[in-house]
Amino acid sequence: MRKDFTIDTGDADTSEIAFVEDYWTQKWVEQGGPKDRTSRIPRKEEFRVMRPYLEKLPKGARMLDGGCGLGDWTVYFTEQGWPTLGLDISRDTVAKLREFFPEHEFEVGDIRQTGLPDASFDAYFSWGTFEHFEAGLEPCIDEAYRVLKPGGLLFTSVPFDNLRHALRAAGDWKRKAQPAAGNERFYQWRLTRGEFRGLLAKSGFEVLDVKAIGKRQGVLRSLQHEFGLPYQWFVSRAASAAVAPFVPSGLVAHMLLAVARKPETDPPR
Ligand SMILES: C[S@@+](CC[C@H](N)C(=O)[O-])C[C@H]1O[C@@H](n2cnc3c(N)ncnc32)[C@H](O)[C@@H]1O
Repeated sequence: MRKDFTIDTGDADTSEIAFVEDYWTQKWVEQGGPKDRTSRIPRKEEFRVMRPYLEKLPKGARMLDGGCGLGDWTVYFTEQGWPTLGLDISRDTVAKLREFFPEHEFEVGDIRQTGLPDASFDAYFSWGTFEHFEAGLEPCIDEAYRVLKPGGLLFTSVPFDNLRHALRAAGDWKRKAQPAAGNERFYQWRLTRGEFRGLLAKSGFEVLDVKAIGKRQGVLRSLQHEFGLPYQWFVSRAASAAVAPFVPSGLVAHMLLAVARKPETDPPR
């Protein structure tokens, strides 16, 4: 597993949990807070991976959205007939979600220790959230296992330690272990397919699939880091859309999405 770091512009002594909460609270404010963005969900790659499993999920089945952010997925699935609880560590964001979507279910919580009852969800999805704590992903995965019913499905994405990252790091191996400058701090873990599969299996999950997704975003990041093109620039965006279909996912894809099942009976641990 490889560590990514970010510049901390705030107080360097901030605890990890406060840093994660502040980081995301600020990000969601910058993005304009909750809005109805549900129409974009069926076009998302994550949704396309979930679709064959959703077709077999009976309506009324209960879902958990771990790290719900601006709540789009929670709202979408609830409206599709699968009552979904959106859980997020950002208190400010959850307060705004409750105001904007009063008929939906949002709670403040930590996916490492949700306080939710054992075996209470038929499916659990979580996008880009398990990787944010330096102690590792195991507490998030173990908690997902605990709250899922036997036979329940987990869909989760984490940053992909693709070939591009491996090559970049080859000349700079120390960055794997520690931040470069005093104001840098741990941001997230990046995983290979084997590492992701291994962690899920260690917690007892049966891993059904691991897919590399987000090629366009990966190309965009490469254009930014290797060629200095601004991330938001329309030319960078057009170029990444044109190039991405021709680039192998193992080289650039931004995320890995795993689909895993909690067995009907607990395996020996
Ligand atoms: C990458 S965003 C994903 C947002 C949303 N699921 C989406 O796909 O648009 C990660 C979210 O997880 C939340 N988060 C990070 N660590 C968390 C934790 N331990 N427990 C609950 N939420 C967490 C952040 O506040 C943020 O909203």
